[in-house]
Amino acid sequence: MADKLPTSDERLQNEFNRWANEGEGEKMERNHLDITEKTIRLMGLRPGERALDLGCGAGWSTRLLARIVAEGPEGFGQVVGVDVSDEMIRRAREASKDFDNILYVWGSAQQIPWEENFFDKVLSVESFYYYPDQGRALAELFRVMAPHGRMFLLINLYKDNPYSLQWVHQLKVPVHVRSEAEYIELLRKHAFENVEARRIPDDTPTPDDYQTK
Ligand SMILES: C[S@@+](CC[C@H](N)C(=O)[O-])C[C@H]1O[C@@H](n2cnc3c(N)ncnc32)[C@H](O)[C@@H]1O
Repeated sequence: MADKLPTSDERLQNEFNRWANEGEGEKMERNHLDITEKTIRLMGLRPGERALDLGCGAGWSTRLLARIVAEGPEGFGQVVGVDVSDEMIRRAREASKDFDNILYVWGSAQQIPWEENFFDKVLSVESFYYYPDQGRALAELFRVMAPHGRMFLLINLYKDNPYSLQWVHQLKVPVHVRSEAEYIELLRKHAFENVEARRIPDDTPTPDDYQTK
């Protein structure tokens, strides 16, 4: 007898389904809201635009985007949330019933289930370092983005942030650890133009029970 080993995406799906069942999808809003709101301001979203939230988790950031793009003179903006965890997607759908301009799709960054040249803006919050083949994910992102589209990847776990590195061994799935300069080079290699890195200060107050630095 032989068991088939899970693929990288199946491992991610299992692990993040576990997170979702433990309520981590919703809890992450508390930790990521400040930096996400600041990033969304940089995105220059306009009513009527089409946005992708890749690795959308429980969908709180997808809803932030959906409110901004909703109704505009050029039509109704639309947001698509994609996540490899079907349980995150189920929870995101449940919490977004009041929105008629959001679609959540279960799928992987390795093969984004969407048509080409579609999205004006892409946001991805604390998700990109999990993608098994980041080059392939970038090729997929490039494919689904509209000409002149803009992408915003929020990455807190990276080489130049020594405090973040404690997570590498605590997480139960492999992650990439690149430097800011390596990320810039990777994006340029995959045909992205005007690539820049910005440090977004996180003003979330440290909880009283926080154990680490
Ligand atoms: C740390 S959580 C962040 C979730 C959400 N963006 C937030 O800030 O609350 C990482 C998310 O990325 C998703 N993810 C990981 N690998 C993925 C992949 N290959 N394709 C799509 N989503 C993925 C996970 O399922 C999880 O929901």
